[in-house]
Amino acid sequence: MINALDNYEGQHDMSRLLHSDPTQASSPLFTTTLSLPDCNADAWVVVDSTVNGLAMGGTRMTATVDPTELGALARAMTHKLALADLPIGGAKAGICPRGPIGDRDALMRTFGQVARPLMQGGVYLGCDQGTNQADRDTFFAAAGYDIARVPGATRLNVEWSDFYRNMSDITGFGVATAALATLEAQGVRTPQRIVLQGFGAVGRAAALHLVAAGHQVVAVADVLGTIEDPAGLPVQTLIECTDTDGTIDRGRLPSSVRVHDGDRAWLKVGADLLVLAANADAVDESAVSSVRAGIVVEGGNMSISRPARRLLREAGHIVLPDVVVNVGGAALTGRIITGITPSGLTAPKLSAWLRDWISRKIKRNCALIQELSDSGSPDPVADLLADRNIAL
Ligand SMILES: NC(=O)c1ccc[n+]([C@@H]2O[C@H](COP(=O)([O-])OP(=O)(O)OC[C@H]3O[C@@H](n4cnc5c(N)ncnc54)[C@H](O)[C@@H]3O)[C@@H](O)[C@H]2O)c1
Repeated sequence: MINALDNYEGQHDMSRLLHSDPTQASSPLFTTTLSLPDCNADAWVVVDSTVNGLAMGGTRMTATVDPTELGALARAMTHKLALADLPIGGAKAGICPRGPIGDRDALMRTFGQVARPLMQGGVYLGCDQGTNQADRDTFFAAAGYDIARVPGATRLNVEWSDFYRNMSDITGFGVATAALATLEAQGVRTPQRIVLQGFGAVGRAAALHLVAAGHQVVAVADVLGTIEDPAGLPVQTLIECTDTDGTIDRGRLPSSVRVHDGDRAWLKVGADLLVLAANADAVDESAVSSVRAGIVVEGGNMSISRPARRLLREAGHIVLPDVVVNVGGAALTGRIITGITPSGLTAPKLSAWLRDWISRKIKRNCALIQELSDSGSPDPVADLLADRNIAL
């Protein structure tokens, strides 16, 4: 076993993880189909694993979500939470509208009422692609779910929804922390040029933290195309022109910027650091030879295909994988549900405590990934998981 693996702090106790077969890339522990009366939508909850009867994951609402996609996402949650040494299993919920949503509140209320036994029974369901914090507040209320009443959870001095709203940058904060720690480990001390693919909740928060650390965002991409300024984009102004789903209003852009239409124009922009914070497989095998940045950060889930990750490493790029870097939101919630965050702190103290813990965990895992990669590992995430007796 190489040195990196001998030094875990607070390693996850795998004896408590319940999984259909933790050593195999196998089916989830259970998949539940929900019927949503009077709603034109299908819905499922997939639980990949539990620890002490607890599991957690987001609720995805897209026109294409299905149990197979949810199974892969729930498995990724198991990996993410285990690598953060959090004693809770991975889950994911999905809502697939069969047509126009109509009354969104009614849909979320019904989802909460139907999922109530699962939520009350230890399966935490948060937000994910297609659902927002207001939706979550609605289905929590309908399920009679209150994180503060989960047995053994950290006691909060503040409403959970208010606290979470104030921490809404936490995943982007973690992504930026991973990037900054890696630059520091590489001995980089000068401002770096950053390209961000995805300008949603994760991309915007990561951009603000990276700019605050003295770096320059030279391009951002959303679903419509890429916006570039080699002299540095005004990130705050761009944020003011961006709607809640992460689309930038082209009509309000400063005249200094260049706009490129089309998919993947962001790949052509010269950069030192590429942060991916949008769709799955944004970098696949066909894109690898076009990647110009030395460091690629996988802020979105499965932003780089598995073969592309290996090819990037072989070509000398540093790759910071999703399950290590985008754990901020999950870690924040997981630490409260499992009660391993001190109770009774004021909101600012709780926020500082959690940011410090998340940042230390992410820095440590990035260092381990890099150490494994430098020692020739073809798949450092698989090695870290194997040390916890979990298959990819
Ligand atoms: N929000 C979180 O806390 C969180 C936590 C863990 C993982 N993630 C993952 O991070 C990724 C981003 O999440 P988010 O919450 O910021 O999403 P979001 O919906 O808020 O924003 C997505 C952004 O990506 C852009 N986009 C979509 N398709 C694109 C494409 N083909 N090319 C370029 N840009 C494209 C959108 O225009 C938007 O700017 C997702 O993979 C999500 O599952 C999010």
